[in-house]
Amino acid sequence: MEKLKVAVVGVGGHGRNRHLVPYLKVKNVEVVAVVDVKEEVAHKVGEEFGVRYYTDHLEMMDRETPDLVSVVTPTGLHYSVAKDILRKGAHVLVDKPVASSVEQVEDLERTSRETGRKVMVGYWSRFSPALSYASRLVREEVGEVYLITTYLVRRRGIPGIPTFLDKSLNGGRGALLDIGCYAIDNALSPLDFPSPLTVSGMIYTKFGNREEEVKLNWGSWDPRTFDLEDYAVGMVRFKDFMMSVEVGWAGNVSHQGEVGVVRILGERGGSEMRGDEAMNEVSFHGVLGGKVVDVRPQLKKVDLHQAIVEEFVSSVREGREPFPNLRQSLVLHSIIDGIYRSSQKGREVSLV
Ligand SMILES: NC(=O)c1ccc[n+]([C@@H]2O[C@H](COP(=O)([O-])OP(=O)(O)OC[C@H]3O[C@@H](n4cnc5c(N)ncnc54)[C@H](O)[C@@H]3O)[C@@H](O)[C@H]2O)c1
Repeated sequence: MEKLKVAVVGVGGHGRNRHLVPYLKVKNVEVVAVVDVKEEVAHKVGEEFGVRYYTDHLEMMDRETPDLVSVVTPTGLHYSVAKDILRKGAHVLVDKPVASSVEQVEDLERTSRETGRKVMVGYWSRFSPALSYASRLVREEVGEVYLITTYLVRRRGIPGIPTFLDKSLNGGRGALLDIGCYAIDNALSPLDFPSPLTVSGMIYTKFGNREEEVKLNWGSWDPRTFDLEDYAVGMVRFKDFMMSVEVGWAGNVSHQGEVGVVRILGERGGSEMRGDEAMNEVSFHGVLGGKVVDVRPQLKKVDLHQAIVEEFVSSVREGREPFPNLRQSLVLHSIIDGIYRSSQKGREVSLV
């Protein structure tokens, strides 16, 4: 079998550990290059893994002509770098969230169609066995869904590094884009992303702008210039059900660390998932033999980061549509953009 050539653009924490390292374990794939704008990072990772390194993704594309590229730069650069890569002729796996706005997702979809190159979106969380089981429960056991609740909150986890806090790097957005995307993705994937109709939402800055909070969170930043949302809520209306979204980088909550919960209530039963950004437990609640029961399946362990790069490689090799895809991200980003718009206008907004 012919080897596929792979490159990784952006080899900070996530790019090095969760893309590059997993690719090295995939059969019939050759990692040819890494790219990072910080020369010392590119050099260090290139040397460590014995691959060529660059500081410019366009130069890398011209010289190496990879078949597949992972984009793991800060979020605000995903769209432009991914678009360049499609135009240079490679398929691209873009880490989450794929872009910073609906318009950018639409443009990537157009560029993908024009170039005939695929875009896969890096929700490694989608490969969770708990999420797969919840999807099956929704298809077979839950009945007509009437309410979804999705929650992903860190007690204190404002990510104090420029990748997440500098507006030129993070897409100008805070917690709602950074981790809200997981909360919405985990909640809507069991229903295959139906179209939302309206949303009413609010974003808050309650922690990041306070000096005393800096030492309680991660990393460090200047609280005087912090103007991103660190908490957000939204109530989304679909044709047959409602979804509430609550996400935060920091909150005065009782749980430790980061907790994610997705509850899907249907006429015949409820599915509840728990975890963090990825769901790692699932339960079913309903009636069996005339009694109210709780069912907790045994799930196998999966290396989610390995699973996503393997799926990317297989989908390209087999000429299949990769999942997670841009159609799903269009729905997801329309909700995120809608919550920002609703918060600014102080009223419900249409998503149609
Ligand atoms: N950290 C996590 O746990 C995690 C999890 C899932 C997804 N992600 C996503 O991965 C992305 C990167 O996050 P991270 O935690 O690895 O950040 P990071 O700051 O550790 O790494 C980002 C790297 O990209 C490099 N970079 C910046 N601009 C570039 C460009 N134009 N070309 C090439 N390289 C460039 C930076 O120098 C840096 O080394 C973000 O979009 C984030 O949402 C992170």
